[in-house]
Amino acid sequence: MLQLVLLAFLVTTLSAETCNFNSIYNPSLEFCVFASQQDGNGLWNDWSDWSICSATCGLCGTQIRTRTCASQPYGCPCTGNAMEVRRCGASGCTGKPCCDGTYKAVAYDGTIFCQLEPPITPPGTWQPWFATSFCNDTCGMCGTMTQARYCMPTGSQCNGNFTQQIACGDGWCSSPKPPCCPGFMKSQNPITNADICVP
Ligand SMILES: *[C@@H]1O[C@H](CO)[C@@H](O)[C@H](O)[C@H]1NC(C)=O
Ligand SMILES: *[C@@H]1O[C@H](CO)[C@@H](O)[C@H](O)[C@H]1NC(C)=O
Repeated sequence: MLQLVLLAFLVTTLSAETCNFNSIYNPSLEFCVFASQQDGNGLWNDWSDWSICSATCGLCGTQIRTRTCASQPYGCPCTGNAMEVRRCGASGCTGKPCCDGTYKAVAYDGTIFCQLEPPITPPGTWQPWFATSFCNDTCGMCGTMTQARYCMPTGSQCNGNFTQQIACGDGWCSSPKPPCCPGFMKSQNPITNADICVP
């Protein structure tokens, strides 16, 4: 809208004699040259938002966006496309391959997605584990918590799981609970001397 207002202003002030509203486009007009810096000789309005993707996964969908030529009514047509199309819905479909002509790839966090080029799969490097939940118990290694790790760079391959569950809460439990849950036994941390449970 601002562009249109600016355009109308320029048309009426700068080029009143040469670029009248009914004129055929003339590349020598100063106004048209001024307006042309981006795309030929006309002035485009901004692109619309992308339309809703026609699919949710597998890169099976398409979406479009359009734009209109703001200077067209003033005799300065735009060059370039008034519509763009792209594929969309890149997340992988559960249990299904990617759509024709697209390739399955693994993101750094283990997410499966589809892309247009064949994935480059150099060996990746695991990043350190980080907690994605709190320990759900306080002692005896009776708790469980989940961890995740990233494989970098994205698109590369690491062997192993992106997430795991581990036992947690390593201090001894106090009576009446047994000090350690089944599968763990009493021990001492060699550095801090704290009472802990170990496998
Ligand atoms: C902690 O989570 C694990 C796994 O979800 C579950 O088996 C266990 O019963 C939980 N413990 C408590 C104290 O809620
Ligand atoms: C990945 O996780 C599964 C299920 O939790 C487990 O059985 C398997 O041993 C893990 N693989 C590796 C390489 O740790």
